[in-house]
Amino acid sequence: MEVKAIFLLAVVVAVAAQEPASSCVPAACQLPNCRCASTEIPGGLEPRDTPQFITVTFDDAVTVQNIQTYREVLYNRKNRNNCQIGSTFYISHEYTDYSIVNELYNEGFEVALHSISHKSPPSYWATASYEEVSQEFGDQKKQMAAFANIPESAIKGMRMPFLQMTGNTHFSVMADAGLEYDSSWGATNSINPGLWPYTLDYASPQECNIGPCPNATFPGLWVSPMLAWIDNDGYTCTMVDSCFSKPGPNDEDAWVEFYIRNFERHYNGNRAPFGYYIHEAHFTSHPASKTALARFLDIVTQLYDVFVVNEHDVIEWVKNPIPVDEYLKKDCKFTLRRQCQSRACGPYYPTHNQFNQEYRLQLCSACPATYPWTGNHLGTN
Ligand SMILES: *[C@@H]1O[C@H](CO)[C@@H](O)[C@H](O)[C@H]1NC(C)=O
Ligand SMILES: [Zn+2]
Repeated sequence: MEVKAIFLLAVVVAVAAQEPASSCVPAACQLPNCRCASTEIPGGLEPRDTPQFITVTFDDAVTVQNIQTYREVLYNRKNRNNCQIGSTFYISHEYTDYSIVNELYNEGFEVALHSISHKSPPSYWATASYEEVSQEFGDQKKQMAAFANIPESAIKGMRMPFLQMTGNTHFSVMADAGLEYDSSWGATNSINPGLWPYTLDYASPQECNIGPCPNATFPGLWVSPMLAWIDNDGYTCTMVDSCFSKPGPNDEDAWVEFYIRNFERHYNGNRAPFGYYIHEAHFTSHPASKTALARFLDIVTQLYDVFVVNEHDVIEWVKNPIPVDEYLKKDCKFTLRRQCQSRACGPYYPTHNQFNQEYRLQLCSACPATYPWTGNHLGTN
C-alpha cells in the first residue's frame, strides 16, 4: 500500500514537471533527431527525387484466420529495389496467436503495439492514467517480446485503441518504454500537401480531432501522422474501413480506382507517406477491397520511385533522407530469424471476461500460469 502511494506520488511529480512545448525553431531542430511539423519534404528534396512510401497497416489481434490474408496478399511481393515489401501490425493482446506474430517478424514485417486490453469505451483511453497506459503499452512491449520470442528492441511503434489520443500521458509512457514513434494522430487538414512525420521537441500545429493531444515537449519522439483519405462524397476518413462513401462490397474495379485516386494525391503532390490503414475484418464484409489491394500493390510496386515499407522504415528515411536513385541502391534489410517452439496453452477462464469464456494461447515461451492481462502481463500471478 505504502509503496504504491509513493509510486503514484512520483508519477504525479513527473507529470507536473513536464515542460510545455514552445513553437518550433527550425534552426534549433535539425535531423536526424528533431524535425518541425511541416509539409516540406525532408532534406529539401524535390518531389520527383523523393521516394513515395506506402505503409500498409493492420490493427488488432493476429490470428490463425487473418494470417491467411496476410500470407496471400503481402508475402512474396517485392518493391522495385528487389526488397520484400513491408507492412506494420498494431497488435492487441487478446486473442492474438504469438506463434503467428513470430512468423510475421521472421518475414520482415513490423510488430508494433496496440495495447493489452483494447478495452471499451474510447473515453477510458482519453483519461487513462500514466500507470494504466504504462501497463497497457510498456508491459505489452515486454509481453510481445517474451511470447513471440522476438527482440524487444525491434518493437518501436504504437497506436492507441480507437485512435483515441491520451494527451501527454501516452508520450511519457513511450519515452519511458523506449518506443520511437506513435501512429494514432489523425490529420484531416494537412493532407494536400501532406504533413510529414515530425518530432515532439516543439509544439505540434497538427489539428486535434480525437483529443486530448500532447502539448508538452518530448525530445526525439516521432509522430507519424495518419493522413486522411477522401471518400467518394468528398469527406475525409482516417482508416479505409471507416470511410462512409466507399465502393460496393464486390466492385473490385471501383476499389482499385478508390485506392489509386487517394494514392495519387500524395504521389502527384509532396510525396508525404501514403498510409493504407485497415482492419482485416473489412475484407470479409467487402471481399473486393482485398482483391483490389492485391491489384493496387501489383501496380505500385512496378513504379521505380514507390516503396511499400514498414512504418519504422519511413521514420528511418526521414531521419536521413536520400534521393530515390540512392535509395534504390541500398541493400535490403536483413531479419535474423527467431525460433518459435510453439506451445498450446490453456484453457484459461480469465476474470476480465464476464461471460466466463474459455481462452487458449499459442505462444513461443512456456505456458503462463494464468491468462496474461494488464497488471499481470506475463500471467505469472
Ligand atoms: C495541455 O493539455 C492539457 C490537456 O491534456 C490541458 O489541461 C492543459 O491546460 C494544456 N496546457 C497548456 C499549457 O496548454
Ligand atoms: Zn483496434
